[in-house]
Amino acid sequence: RVFNKPEESSELIAREIADMIKKRQQEDRHIVLGLATGSTPKEVYAELIKLHKEEGLSFSNVITFNLDEYYPMDPGQAQSYVRFMDEKLFDHIDIDKNNVHIPDGTIDREDVFDYCQEYEKKIREAGGIDIQLLGIGRTGHIGFNEPGSSRESHTRLVTLDKATRIDAASDFFEERFVPRNAITMGVATILDARRIILMAYGAGKASIIQRTVEGDVSESVPATFLQDHPNTTIFLDKSASSEL
Ligand code: GLP
Repeated sequence: RVFNKPEESSELIAREIADMIKKRQQEDRHIVLGLATGSTPKEVYAELIKLHKEEGLSFSNVITFNLDEYYPMDPGQAQSYVRFMDEKLFDHIDIDKNNVHIPDGTIDREDVFDYCQEYEKKIREAGGIDIQLLGIGRTGHIGFNEPGSSRESHTRLVTLDKATRIDAASDFFEERFVPRNAITMGVATILDARRIILMAYGAGKASIIQRTVEGDVSESVPATFLQDHPNTTIFLDKSASSEL
């Protein structure tokens, strides 16, 4: 779906999420949201906060799992995804922090494998992800599933691409301060979500969106695996859709 402005897209996405939250509240059920970081979803979170403040939307029945976190990463560090999520969403809504899950960037390296299995287990025990939000990296990564990530991959420790680290350099002042690794949900973890919303805005995303939508399904552009998912919508602005 192509919108004139990212704001129109974000508003619609926030409405879809809010409607699902409310529907589940009426049924006395919880909802599991898969959340993303980066500049792209910020406006969706701002809209959700607005719906909470202005329309009384409650997040008391919401369980969240974030896609990824840099590794190593202290949650208190300015660039951590824990900080990002608190500042952009969680600190402004009535979510129970026990229901919030973000990969832990402080786990000892030898414990990371078990930790990742545990993260997968928690997602399963929560009933699986109902709505997964995604941005996309210049390399075609979803979460931090860089080129070469298998369709069958699950939550694990990965090595970041050079291009991803260059793109993150401004957040870390210099490229050499960007962590070399990350913990990310896998491609299979993402594709298990019942509904997927991928967002991309701006001319800088046009080329990777063209490859994602029109290219062959391949590990070289992990986002192409979404082509086979039965309930994915890609929300774009005009610039991001300009090479389609
Ligand atoms: C990071 C995140 C991704 C995100 C990507 C794009 O790599 N781990 O989840 O999609 O950045 O970021 P932005 O939305 O700022 O373009």
